[in-house]
Formats: sequence, C-alpha cells, structure tokens
Amino acid sequence: MVRILPISDPGTLDAAIEVLRRGEPVAIPTETVYGLAADATDPAAITSIYEAKGRPRFNPLIAHVANIEMARAHVTFSPLAERLAEAFWPGPLTLVLPLKETGKIHPLATAGLGTAAVRMPEGFARELIAEFGRPLAAPSANRSGRISPTTAQHVADDLGDRISLVLDGGNCRIGVESTILALNDGRLRLLRPGGVPVEAIEEAVGMAIERPGKQSGGGPVIAPGMLASHYAPDAQLRLNATEARPGEAIIRFGGTPLAGEDQAKSVMDLSPSCDLREAAANLFDLLKRADATGATGIAVAPVPGHGLGEAINDRLNRAAAPRN
Ligand code: TXA
Ligand code: MG
Repeated sequence: MVRILPISDPGTLDAAIEVLRRGEPVAIPTETVYGLAADATDPAAITSIYEAKGRPRFNPLIAHVANIEMARAHVTFSPLAERLAEAFWPGPLTLVLPLKETGKIHPLATAGLGTAAVRMPEGFARELIAEFGRPLAAPSANRSGRISPTTAQHVADDLGDRISLVLDGGNCRIGVESTILALNDGRLRLLRPGGVPVEAIEEAVGMAIERPGKQSGGGPVIAPGMLASHYAPDAQLRLNATEARPGEAIIRFGGTPLAGEDQAKSVMDLSPSCDLREAAANLFDLLKRADATGATGIAVAPVPGHGLGEAINDRLNRAAAPRN
C-alpha cells in the first residue's frame, strides 16, 4: 500500500529523505505538478523512476535543485542563463544548459545528452532537496503518456501500486508543467510552453524567444516529451467546441454555456471569470473528471492563447492528438 503523508506533518521530511536515501522514488508536490523524485546522481534510483512511469529511457528528466550553487556544480551558466535564473527561480522555468565534466548528474537522467534540464522549484520541494543535499530528478508523477497529477490523490490513483510514498501538499498552485527553454549561442528557444508565460520571459531579458516548429516524429529529438500524443485521457477530445453534442462531457471557459449543453453528460468550467491562471490550475483535474464520467467524448470551449493560455492550449492539443 502506498503511504500518503501531508507535508505539514512533522515527520514527513525525514520519512521522504529515508526513502530517497534507499534509492527509491518519492512523489512530491511542486508549484507546477506533482513530480516523481529520486536521486539524480544514482543510476539505480533513476532507473526506478523510468520503471514506475513506464517512460522510454530516451526521454531525459529535469534535475531539480535547491539553490543556484547546487545547479552550478553540474551545469554551466552563461550570463543570460544567470539572468533567467535570477528573474524566475525558484519557479516554473526549466533551463537546458551544458553539463559540466565534473558534474554528478547521471547520464541516465539526461539520456546521454550533453545538456541537462535544470529547475529550482518553490516551497516544500525546494526544502526537501536542500535537506537531501543532491539534485532530484523528477518527471511528472504520472504513468508515461497520461495526464500530469495536480493532487496527491491523482498520483495515488495512477501510480499507487508502483511507488511507496506520496507527499501531499494539496492542489498545485500553477497546475501546468514548467516552461522549458534551451539556451544556445545567446539564443533562446522554447522547448515547452509552461508555467512562466513566454511574454514574461521576453520582457525580463529584452529578447525574443524562438518557437521551433512542433515535432511530429522524425528528425532529431530536442525535447522528447514534446512528442505529439501526450497527456491523453481515454475519451476523445474535441477542441474549440462552440456547441455540445449529446453525451459529451463539456469543459467551458469563461462561464459561457455551449449550445445544447442540456444533452451533455457533465458540464464544468476552467474559469467562469476568464482567469487563465485559474484555468491552468484546474486544467488537468477537469480533464480527469471529465474522463471519469465515462463520456466517449470531451468537448472543450476555446481558450485564449496569450499568457498561460499558450501552455493550456499546448496541453489540450497534445491530449487531442491521435494515439499510436
Ligand atoms: O513542472 C515540471 O517541469 C515538472 C515538475 C515535476 O517539475 N516536471 C516535468 O517533467 O514536467 P517531465 O519529465 O514530465 O518533462 C520534462 C521535459 C521532457 O519533455 C524532456 O524531454 C525534457 O524536459 N528534457 C529533459 N532534459 C532535457 C534536455 N537535456 N534537453 C531537452 N529537453 C529535455
Ligand atoms: Mg510529464
């Protein structure tokens, strides 16, 4: 049986450290989504993450750090990377930076690439890493290809038979994964839209971020998690819906009813007040709830594409993509 321990309980931090020291993974809350964390320097611990998730080994993991010194021990910061870390850490921004030869992040965590994705999370996750003293590799705590978890119960539902400990920090504040940026030759490329809006980053550093064309298989893998079908519910998703079809689960945005909603299986709203932050925080939970109604289809109303809307629409498009 999986143990679920509230982060506010006094013994929780020590219990988590004990499991991590044994080289086993622990599901932890972060401000974005729950992560499945293990020692990023220990190959057996990293292997246990891939196994619990059923994740392909070519898809590298984010190394989470407690402070900038811990990050500097493993990757090289350019002046631009320093500025980004200064502006957005701790927080939902992941930087892909060159590995140092003296660094200790294991190649299993980076899938053998010459770079590592690094992020400093907020709150309890950061305290845990500081106490552990080494970076924690942590992908989202869901089975590979499924919707990311934003509550401890989501994790227990999805991975409860595969891991021993889930730390419960309540609902994730942001609700979508971190924004991932690659830094090369002073250029910034968006590998994944996420919790920090692109506009906010562009404003902070005064330069434009390139958006590479969406990957659809074939070609070199730059952020393997960017493969099309991801975040998949069982039901088929229909996006930008303006009318409901009989038997569908409806996900509205902005409080506006869809035509024909009275024939729908269920009706929920990402944010009745048109707040994209609220919509992001609700997104994965509402997708799971809509799926749990047993509806064959989920219709989602249009969501604006600016700010956090870019990450929301990215996740919706992946969830709607054809499955293999
Ligand atoms: O908010 C988040 O980022 C959450 C929480 C737990 O921190 N983590 C997360 O991890 O979303 P994951 O594994 O689901 O997504 C990590 C993404 C994947 O798309 C992976 O391919 C990409 O980061 N990635 C990791 N290392 C990379 C590297 N060296 N170069 C390019 N992409 C990399
Ligand atoms: Mg994931």
